[in-house]
Amino acid sequence: MRYFIETYGCQMNVADSELVAGLLDGSGHRRATRLEDAQIILFNTCAIREKAEKTIHNRLSQLARLKENDPSILIGVLGCMAKHLSDDLLESKPYVDMVLGPDSYRRLPQLVQDRKAEQEHIVDTRLSRFEVYDDMFPSRREGVNAWTSIMRGCDKFCTFCVVPFTRGRERSRSVAGIVAEVEEAVRQGFVEVTLLGQNVNSYQYEGTRFPDLLESVAAVPGVRRIRYTSPHPSDMDDRLLDVMVAHDNICESIHLPLQAGSDRILRRMNRSYTRSEYIRLVERIRAVMPECTISTDIIVGFPGEQDVEFQETLQVVEQLGFDSAFTFKYSIRPGTKAAEYEDQVPDEVKQERLEQLIAVQKAITLVRNRTYVGREVEVLVEKESKKSSLQWAGRTDGNKWVVFDKESARIKDFVKVHIDTSHGVALQGHIINAVDLSCQEAYHAVG
Ligand code: 5AD
Ligand code: SF4
Repeated sequence: MRYFIETYGCQMNVADSELVAGLLDGSGHRRATRLEDAQIILFNTCAIREKAEKTIHNRLSQLARLKENDPSILIGVLGCMAKHLSDDLLESKPYVDMVLGPDSYRRLPQLVQDRKAEQEHIVDTRLSRFEVYDDMFPSRREGVNAWTSIMRGCDKFCTFCVVPFTRGRERSRSVAGIVAEVEEAVRQGFVEVTLLGQNVNSYQYEGTRFPDLLESVAAVPGVRRIRYTSPHPSDMDDRLLDVMVAHDNICESIHLPLQAGSDRILRRMNRSYTRSEYIRLVERIRAVMPECTISTDIIVGFPGEQDVEFQETLQVVEQLGFDSAFTFKYSIRPGTKAAEYEDQVPDEVKQERLEQLIAVQKAITLVRNRTYVGREVEVLVEKESKKSSLQWAGRTDGNKWVVFDKESARIKDFVKVHIDTSHGVALQGHIINAVDLSCQEAYHAVG
């Protein structure tokens, strides 16, 4: 049968969808390029904020008609929302045939098979203490970056977050399994690897910690760039920074979620670090790697957040000057501790704080990006620019997007680009050297 997977949410879900695609390919199914052409339609869902859930509910509603026209179509809901909302889903969307949580994907081929015989709903949202899909190879679409999941679940229980409930306990994949997957990705022509986990620096497998794993991945021949996301500030250590410095192919770019800049709010969030510990950490990163870019996540309007406490967040943002920030209004997640707090912040206040924060960060991003004007940077060519078919877009080691005329460069080349201007979030420049043939030849030899 032909299948189509629509993916929502974080990169972990992108990686999981590739895993599911690998399973279905392996059992004789084929990927459809359009949802309309598929007999198996899977939605890999996200429950992190209410807005994500609403979007997915609306989108699922659109499938009712499809199912009416062709009842043989199999509709499945996978991922975090499946775990979080299975009863709700089946009640409001009876045309959903299958609801599978993030630890149940191995059963999918068999379930698809069984479903042909029976017309029952299938629900499996049990969480496992062990499942890491270590032996399974994802089916990746052609591209530059291979998402590689190294651990699953989260034990941090930040009070706002639903992930420990939807994805269960923290568990790590074997080093051998991860390295084998990275080697396979290189053979397939990928030049960049992003190691993924809800909490990558909690990685621990038979005594191997995250910095050691990073070293093993850095040693895989052909891996030109390694990124990882997301680390928890409390689990960052000097050894991790040393490993980043020691290996040219580990990008000097860290996504380091701050969440809030007030100690009282951080405590209420159960974040396990203080504002000054976070600031010292960023200072240490910059002392060791002056070129390292730092991005963050911030939540505004967490229950009980006073205006002065929000101002403290703004102060940290201004003091540290993040390269970019993902900013969110706090969203109540049923089942989490913060959902029970009685001092919820009104939406207008959250909205106002969000807008203020976005404006402050936008100005900082502009200033930081302007420091690149006049410099030469190495860019990995990743895709066509959205604005012009004559231009490429690619990223620097520090995760900045750069747009430039294509000239003779090809996707997956590393090119030297002179930065001419910077508007908005991207930098604009022009290529100043011939393409890096060693990489291109290696890639085309593999391809
Ligand atoms: N409301 C708003 N933002 C949230 N995040 C996680 N849970 C919530 C929530 N309930 C944000 C955090 C996290 C990012 C992935 O999503 O900032 O780092
Ligand atoms: Fe959620 Fe906190 Fe775990 Fe991140 S560390 S997934 S925010 S509980």
